[in-house]
Amino acid sequence: MHTDTMTFGPATYEELAEQLDGLLTGETDPIANLANTAALIYHGLPDLNWAGFYLMRREVLVLGPFQGKPACVRIEIGKGVCGTAVARAASVLVPDVHAFPGHIACDAASRSELVVPLVRDGAVLGVLDLDSPIPSRFDARDEAGCEALVAVLLRHLGDFAV
Ligand code: SME
Repeated sequence: MHTDTMTFGPATYEELAEQLDGLLTGETDPIANLANTAALIYHGLPDLNWAGFYLMRREVLVLGPFQGKPACVRIEIGKGVCGTAVARAASVLVPDVHAFPGHIACDAASRSELVVPLVRDGAVLGVLDLDSPIPSRFDARDEAGCEALVAVLLRHLGDFAV
């Protein structure tokens, strides 16, 4: 799909999944596809102040393509919301980041967070991290919707591996 045929703005998760599939089809470069996924989500979901990826690099998460303010670069497994999602190999929904022990504050404006791991063949490749300035911005519907978006992305990551 050509990006100039797409309109960006608030969308349902079903619409976003379709747009994402179209956006990534025909391209297997992982950086390009991760970057376009971050941009689509950031502009497609309301009330986000950060959307992007941390990728597994030698047993540590390292900042990947994202939209938002500059962020901390390295996160250890088990640390913060992102490292917790890797340790559990499961999504982590945080309604109030101030109440999450060990939360890593990259942007002081962030009040709630959703992290979805990228799991392929049982291995965690990285995480999708979404931040919002609004408390309790994310719910179970967002979690399921973002897991569906990650599933689309994983189909278009080519031979990307950790
Ligand atoms: N808050 C995250 C760190 C990454 S920033 O939100 C972009 C965490 O606690 O893992």
